[in-house]
Amino acid sequence: MSAQRKDDHVRLAIEQQHVPLGGNQFDEVSFVHHALAGIDRPEVSPAVSVADGIAWPVPIYINAMTGGSVKTGAINRDLATAARETGVPIASGSMHAYFKDPSCADTFRVLRRENPRGFVMANVNATASVADARRAIDLLEADALQIHLNTAQETVMPEGDRSFSSWAPRIEEIAAAVEVPVIVKEVGNGLSRQTVLALADLGVRAADVGGRGGTDFARIENGRREAGEYAFMHGWGQSTAACLLDAQDAGLPVLASGGVRDPLDVARALALGAGAVGSSGGFLRTLLDGGVPALIGQITAWLDQLAALQTMLGARTPADLARCDLLISGSLRDFCADRGIPTWQLARRSSSTGSTGSGKGSGTGAGPGSGSGSIEAEAEALHEMTGRTR
Ligand SMILES: Cc1cc2nc3c(=O)[nH]c(=O)nc-3n(C[C@H](O)[C@H](O)[C@H](O)COP(=O)(O)O)c2cc1C
Repeated sequence: MSAQRKDDHVRLAIEQQHVPLGGNQFDEVSFVHHALAGIDRPEVSPAVSVADGIAWPVPIYINAMTGGSVKTGAINRDLATAARETGVPIASGSMHAYFKDPSCADTFRVLRRENPRGFVMANVNATASVADARRAIDLLEADALQIHLNTAQETVMPEGDRSFSSWAPRIEEIAAAVEVPVIVKEVGNGLSRQTVLALADLGVRAADVGGRGGTDFARIENGRREAGEYAFMHGWGQSTAACLLDAQDAGLPVLASGGVRDPLDVARALALGAGAVGSSGGFLRTLLDGGVPALIGQITAWLDQLAALQTMLGARTPADLARCDLLISGSLRDFCADRGIPTWQLARRSSSTGSTGSGKGSGTGAGPGSGSGSIEAEAEALHEMTGRTR
């Protein structure tokens, strides 16, 4: 990736932050309010176990963005400082610029230098060789490797790839070869259930659904075309909320990113089953508008407000949010109907776990509605009716 292209991405991504297009399906996810569900703030913990070998002190991370040019090296330095001060994990942008031109190593390496004890992820695409993946991990002393999937971006990108069939075998090869956990992510067009299932078979440790609703790389790449002739691709893919619903019980831990705007979206994503929640474009905008203190302030506020929501909702841990009752409405409900996802189960699940209304954790059966046996029987029946399988 050329340094110029990386700088273009930053400029166009920030323009999008100022003029967002399309809706955000997180607006179609709401919590059922249980007025006696609340617990005491000191009981709330932010720690998460995302996947085997990936445990984080907080459920929010700074997702892949930059490196490869002087300007984006400075951005990485500032992002790393914010990560260090707040304890959030952080990912580098794609390290292909480094493979092509090792002289830009420092624009990536700064992520580790500024944040020596933090959780740092290296990022490559699905054409990287095993040797390149290892170089990326070594340069950052990375704790995990992200491999990004971006067929829509490549399709709209004037100089993009047009051959994708080697991606799955390459992911499998890398996952088997490297020492750190591999997380596969989309860049804003979403991962379908089928893709998540395929990734589970390829040996990756977790999938970041990277859905639609925030930064739109089809729009970014079309913005780099003189004639803008690929405008029909704007908004391609599934929203982050839709992806999380689609990936329920798919057998692979999932992370959420794409269009996460505030702590409520973080809570919604966690409630939809994400192990942790990432932001890119929004954090970048804060950094470029207000500098490192503004980004530290935003992340600190998000963590504090998420804990406040957990307290009100009776969720001692971020993972406990996945037992809260959720209502799915509008076009997201249509998506669920067509994909065979029983939304009513989400609206009543606390009654089978007792996670609301008593503040006593799971298994008390204290929530509203019928007993756990009948809910489970209904769920089983619906599973059979819809024929929804792995
Ligand atoms: C300026 C910019 C550069 C990005 N570069 C990369 C990249 O190199 N590799 C990658 O996997 N994702 C990249 N992304 C995608 C993000 O990691 C994320 O998946 C996507 O932006 C959706 O999240 P958001 O809506 O919070 O921005 C980039 C995003 C932005 C804003």
